[in-house]
Amino acid sequence: MVQATPFLLVLFLALGAHGLSAKKCNLTGRWVNDLGSNMTIKTVNANGVFAGSYHTAVTATSNEIKESPLQGSLQKSPNQKGQPTFGFTVNWSFSDSITVFTGQCFVDDDGKEVLKTMWLLRSRVENIKSDWKATRVGNNVFTRLQLQE
Ligand code: BTN
Repeated sequence: MVQATPFLLVLFLALGAHGLSAKKCNLTGRWVNDLGSNMTIKTVNANGVFAGSYHTAVTATSNEIKESPLQGSLQKSPNQKGQPTFGFTVNWSFSDSITVFTGQCFVDDDGKEVLKTMWLLRSRVENIKSDWKATRVGNNVFTRLQLQE
C-alpha cells in the first residue's frame, strides 16, 4: 500500500493534467464544409445562444445565392466535456426554404476542430399533396477556415 501511494499520486496528477489541458472545441469563428459552403459564427453567449451567417456553395433552386442569417443554440451542460452538441437554423434569404442543422463540435486526433452535422432542408411546396417531396436530408463536415497570409 505504501509503495502504491506514489504511483497512484503520479497517475492521478497525469490524468488531472491531461483533463485540464485537453483542447476544447469552440464554435465561434469561420468554417468551411465539404461542399465548399462558408459559415461564420459570432460569439456564443452565456446561455449558449449564437447567431451568424451562412454562404452556401450550392442551392436546390435556380435563384442567385446570397449570404443568409443563422441562429443557433449550443448545449451548455457540464457533461459536454469540451465537445458540445449544438443546433442551428439557416433562414435562406434567397429562397423559400429553411435548413436545420444538428451536430457536435469535436477535437480530432490531430487536435483539429471538426463539426459533424446532419441537416434537413425544407423546401416550400405548392400544396399538401406535394409534402412528401419537400424535405431533403444530408450531412456536412465543417473544418475551421484557415486565415490566408
Ligand atoms: C435552397 O436551396 O433553397 C437554400 C440553400 C440550401 C443549401 C443546402 S443546406 C444543406 C446543404 N449544405 C450546404 O452547405 N448547402 C446545402
